Amino acid sequence: TSKALIIPAAGSGSRLGTEIPKPYLRLAGQTILHHSISRFLSLDGLSQVVIATSPQYIDRSEEILDNLLPASIVGICVEGGTERQDSITNALNKVGDVGLVMVHDAVRPFVNEASITECCKVASKVGSAVLGIPAKDTIKRIDEEQYVQETPPRKLLWQTQTPQVFQKQIIMEAYEQAASNNIEATDDASLVERLGKKIKMVEGNRSNIKITYPLDLQLAKQLINNEQ
Ligand code: C5P
Repeated sequence: TSKALIIPAAGSGSRLGTEIPKPYLRLAGQTILHHSISRFLSLDGLSQVVIATSPQYIDRSEEILDNLLPASIVGICVEGGTERQDSITNALNKVGDVGLVMVHDAVRPFVNEASITECCKVASKVGSAVLGIPAKDTIKRIDEEQYVQETPPRKLLWQTQTPQVFQKQIIMEAYEQAASNNIEATDDASLVERLGKKIKMVEGNRSNIKITYPLDLQLAKQLINNEQ
Protein backbone atom coordinates (compact mmCIF):
# COMPACT_ATOMS: atom_id res chain seq x y z
CA THR A 1 0.00 0.00 0.00
CA SER A 2 1.18 3.54 -0.73
CA LYS A 3 1.62 5.66 2.37
CA ALA A 4 1.89 9.30 3.38
CA LEU A 5 3.53 10.41 6.61
CA ILE A 6 2.30 13.56 8.37
CA ILE A 7 4.57 15.10 10.99
CA PRO A 8 3.07 17.82 13.21
CA ALA A 9 6.03 19.96 14.32
CA ALA A 10 4.41 23.34 14.97
CA GLY A 11 4.25 23.18 18.77
CA SER A 12 5.78 26.03 20.75
CA GLY A 13 7.58 23.80 23.24
CA SER A 14 6.43 25.86 26.22
CA ARG A 15 6.50 22.87 28.61
CA LEU A 16 10.14 22.17 27.85
CA GLY A 17 11.11 25.78 28.46
CA THR A 18 13.64 26.01 25.64
CA GLU A 19 13.98 28.88 23.16
CA ILE A 20 14.15 26.57 20.15
CA PRO A 21 11.01 24.44 19.59
CA LYS A 22 11.58 20.80 20.55
CA PRO A 23 11.67 19.23 17.06
CA TYR A 24 14.62 21.46 16.15
CA LEU A 25 16.78 20.65 19.18
CA ARG A 26 19.68 18.37 18.42
CA LEU A 27 20.35 14.86 19.69
CA ALA A 28 23.63 13.23 18.70
CA GLY A 29 24.25 15.90 16.07
CA GLN A 30 20.89 15.74 14.28
CA THR A 31 17.56 17.42 14.99
CA ILE A 32 14.87 15.47 16.82
CA LEU A 33 12.71 15.97 13.71
CA HIS A 34 15.40 14.35 11.55
CA HIS A 35 15.57 11.30 13.84
CA SER A 36 11.76 10.96 13.95
CA ILE A 37 11.39 10.98 10.16
CA SER A 38 14.35 8.70 9.56
CA ARG A 39 12.59 5.84 11.41
CA PHE A 40 10.05 5.67 8.57
CA LEU A 41 12.38 5.66 5.60
CA SER A 42 12.75 1.90 5.29
CA LEU A 43 8.97 1.43 5.26
CA ASP A 44 7.49 -0.19 2.14
CA GLY A 45 5.41 2.15 -0.04
CA LEU A 46 6.24 5.48 1.62
CA SER A 47 5.62 8.07 -1.10
CA GLN A 48 5.12 11.36 0.72
CA VAL A 49 6.23 13.19 3.89
CA VAL A 50 4.32 16.32 4.94
CA ILE A 51 5.65 18.44 7.82
CA ALA A 52 3.44 21.08 9.45
CA THR A 53 5.53 23.70 11.19
CA SER A 54 5.63 27.35 12.23
CA PRO A 55 6.40 29.89 9.46
CA GLN A 56 9.90 30.63 10.75
CA TYR A 57 10.86 26.94 10.61
CA ILE A 58 9.64 26.12 7.09
CA ASP A 59 13.08 26.64 5.51
CA ARG A 60 14.82 24.59 8.19
CA SER A 61 12.30 21.77 7.71
CA GLU A 62 12.74 21.79 3.94
CA GLU A 63 16.47 21.47 4.45
CA ILE A 64 15.94 18.46 6.74
CA LEU A 65 13.72 16.78 4.12
CA ASP A 66 16.23 17.53 1.33
CA ASN A 67 18.94 15.80 3.35
CA LEU A 68 16.83 12.80 4.29
CA LEU A 69 14.49 11.84 1.49
CA PRO A 70 15.43 9.78 -1.56
CA ALA A 71 14.08 10.99 -4.93
CA SER A 72 11.20 8.47 -4.74
CA ILE A 73 9.63 10.26 -1.74
CA VAL A 74 7.99 13.68 -2.11
CA GLY A 75 8.63 16.10 0.77
CA ILE A 76 6.28 19.01 1.53
CA CYS A 77 6.30 21.62 4.31
CA VAL A 78 3.16 23.51 5.29
CA GLU A 79 2.35 26.07 7.94
CA GLY A 80 0.94 24.63 11.14
CA GLY A 81 -1.97 26.07 13.14
CA THR A 82 -2.81 27.15 16.67
CA GLU A 83 -3.64 23.62 17.86
CA ARG A 84 -2.14 20.30 16.80
CA GLN A 85 -5.44 19.49 15.10
CA ASP A 86 -5.15 22.63 12.92
CA SER A 87 -1.63 21.62 11.94
CA ILE A 88 -2.85 18.17 10.87
CA THR A 89 -5.73 19.72 8.90
CA ASN A 90 -3.28 21.82 6.87
CA ALA A 91 -1.07 18.79 6.24
CA LEU A 92 -4.00 16.58 5.20
CA ASN A 93 -4.83 19.09 2.45
CA LYS A 94 -1.51 18.21 0.82
CA VAL A 95 -1.79 14.44 1.01
CA GLY A 96 -1.99 12.85 -2.43
CA ASP A 97 -3.49 9.61 -3.64
CA VAL A 98 -2.35 7.08 -1.01
CA GLY A 99 -3.90 4.12 0.76
CA LEU A 100 -2.71 4.88 4.29
CA VAL A 101 -2.00 8.09 6.19
CA MET A 102 0.35 7.85 9.18
CA VAL A 103 0.50 10.69 11.71
CA HIS A 104 3.61 10.80 13.86
CA ASP A 105 4.65 13.46 16.41
CA ALA A 106 7.87 15.24 15.50
CA VAL A 107 9.02 14.75 19.08
CA ARG A 108 8.95 10.93 19.14
CA PRO A 109 12.34 10.04 17.70
CA PHE A 110 12.56 6.54 19.22
CA VAL A 111 9.70 4.73 17.53
CA ASN A 112 10.94 1.47 16.05
CA GLU A 113 10.49 0.17 12.51
CA ALA A 114 8.80 -3.08 13.56
CA SER A 115 6.08 -1.18 15.45
CA ILE A 116 5.46 1.11 12.48
CA THR A 117 5.14 -1.85 10.10
CA GLU A 118 2.78 -3.69 12.46
CA CYS A 119 0.61 -0.59 12.90
CA CYS A 120 0.30 -0.20 9.10
CA LYS A 121 -0.56 -3.87 8.69
CA VAL A 122 -3.36 -3.65 11.25
CA ALA A 123 -4.68 -0.35 9.81
CA SER A 124 -4.88 -1.92 6.35
CA LYS A 125 -7.08 -4.65 7.77
CA VAL A 126 -9.14 -2.81 10.43
CA GLY A 127 -9.20 0.74 9.02
CA SER A 128 -7.32 2.46 11.86
CA ALA A 129 -4.53 1.45 14.24
CA VAL A 130 -2.61 3.32 16.91
CA LEU A 131 0.46 2.45 18.91
CA GLY A 132 0.10 2.41 22.67
CA ILE A 133 1.32 0.85 25.90
CA PRO A 134 -0.55 -0.41 28.98
CA ALA A 135 -0.79 2.33 31.63
CA LYS A 136 1.86 1.88 34.29
CA ASP A 137 0.26 4.17 36.88
CA THR A 138 -3.27 3.97 38.19
CA ILE A 139 -5.16 6.75 36.40
CA LYS A 140 -7.86 8.86 38.02
CA ARG A 141 -10.39 11.15 36.47
CA ILE A 142 -10.70 14.42 38.38
CA ASP A 143 -12.99 17.44 38.25
CA GLU A 144 -11.97 21.05 37.63
CA GLU A 145 -11.10 21.48 41.34
CA GLN A 146 -8.88 18.39 41.31
CA TYR A 147 -11.29 16.22 43.33
CA VAL A 148 -11.13 12.58 42.33
CA GLN A 149 -14.23 11.44 40.46
CA GLU A 150 -13.40 7.95 39.28
CA THR A 151 -10.70 5.29 38.96
CA PRO A 152 -11.20 3.25 35.78
CA PRO A 153 -9.71 -0.29 35.96
CA ARG A 154 -6.06 0.01 34.99
CA LYS A 155 -5.99 -3.10 32.84
CA LEU A 156 -8.34 -1.36 30.38
CA LEU A 157 -6.27 1.84 30.18
CA TRP A 158 -3.54 2.31 27.61
CA GLN A 159 -1.43 5.35 26.88
CA THR A 160 -1.61 6.36 23.25
CA GLN A 161 1.49 7.05 21.25
CA THR A 162 2.10 7.71 17.58
CA PRO A 163 2.18 6.74 14.79
CA GLN A 164 -1.57 6.61 14.42
CA VAL A 165 -2.38 5.06 11.06
CA PHE A 166 -5.60 5.35 9.05
CA GLN A 167 -6.97 4.44 5.67
CA LYS A 168 -7.00 7.78 3.89
CA GLN A 169 -10.76 8.14 3.47
CA ILE A 170 -11.30 7.48 7.19
CA ILE A 171 -9.02 10.23 8.48
CA MET A 172 -10.33 12.67 5.85
CA GLU A 173 -13.90 12.01 6.96
CA ALA A 174 -12.94 12.29 10.65
CA TYR A 175 -11.35 15.71 10.14
CA GLU A 176 -14.23 16.97 7.98
CA GLN A 177 -16.73 15.93 10.68
CA ALA A 178 -14.62 17.51 13.42
CA ALA A 179 -14.42 20.79 11.49
CA SER A 180 -18.14 21.01 10.82
CA ASN A 181 -19.05 20.14 14.42
CA ASN A 182 -16.30 22.16 16.14
CA ILE A 183 -14.86 19.10 17.86
CA GLU A 184 -11.43 19.40 19.45
CA ALA A 185 -9.18 16.50 20.34
CA THR A 186 -5.60 15.88 21.45
CA ASP A 187 -5.10 12.90 19.16
CA ASP A 188 -6.31 11.83 15.72
CA ALA A 189 -7.89 8.54 16.74
CA SER A 190 -10.46 10.24 18.97
CA LEU A 191 -11.88 11.99 15.91
CA VAL A 192 -12.22 8.62 14.19
CA GLU A 193 -13.89 7.17 17.33
CA ARG A 194 -16.61 9.79 16.87
CA LEU A 195 -17.43 8.28 13.49
CA GLY A 196 -18.09 5.00 15.31
CA LYS A 197 -15.39 3.22 13.34
CA LYS A 198 -13.10 0.51 14.68
CA ILE A 199 -9.60 1.37 15.83
CA LYS A 200 -7.15 -1.21 17.09
CA MET A 201 -4.39 -0.60 19.64
CA VAL A 202 -1.06 -2.10 18.71
CA GLU A 203 1.35 -2.64 21.58
CA GLY A 204 4.34 -0.35 21.09
CA ASN A 205 7.44 0.23 23.06
CA ARG A 206 8.16 2.16 26.27
CA SER A 207 11.10 3.88 24.65
CA ASN A 208 8.75 5.63 22.18
CA ILE A 209 8.62 8.66 24.47
CA LYS A 210 7.19 12.05 23.54
CA ILE A 211 9.83 14.63 24.38
CA THR A 212 7.70 17.09 26.35
CA TYR A 213 9.35 17.96 29.68
CA PRO A 214 13.01 18.59 30.60
CA LEU A 215 13.20 15.09 32.12
CA ASP A 216 12.18 13.58 28.76
CA LEU A 217 15.07 15.36 27.09
CA GLN A 218 17.51 13.90 29.61
CA LEU A 219 16.11 10.43 28.95
CA ALA A 220 16.31 11.03 25.19
CA LYS A 221 20.03 11.80 25.48
CA GLN A 222 20.55 8.48 27.30
CA LEU A 223 18.51 6.54 24.76
CA ILE A 224 20.33 7.98 21.76
CA ASN A 225 23.71 7.21 23.38
CA ASN A 226 22.63 3.60 23.85
CA GLU A 227 21.91 3.39 20.13
CA GLN A 228 25.24 4.81 18.95
O1 C5P B 1 1.20 19.58 22.13
P1 C5P B 1 1.53 18.12 21.98
O2 C5P B 1 2.54 17.68 22.98
O3 C5P B 1 0.36 17.21 21.86
O4 C5P B 1 2.31 18.07 20.58
C1 C5P B 1 2.53 16.89 19.87
C2 C5P B 1 3.08 17.22 18.52
O5 C5P B 1 2.21 18.11 17.82
C3 C5P B 1 4.45 17.93 18.57
O6 C5P B 1 5.28 17.31 17.59
C4 C5P B 1 4.13 19.36 18.23
O7 C5P B 1 5.18 20.03 17.54
C5 C5P B 1 2.92 19.23 17.33
N1 C5P B 1 2.03 20.42 17.35
C6 C5P B 1 1.70 21.05 16.14
N2 C5P B 1 0.91 22.18 16.14
C7 C5P B 1 0.45 22.69 17.30
C8 C5P B 1 0.76 22.06 18.54
C9 C5P B 1 1.55 20.91 18.53
O8 C5P B 1 2.12 20.61 15.07
N3 C5P B 1 -0.29 23.81 17.25
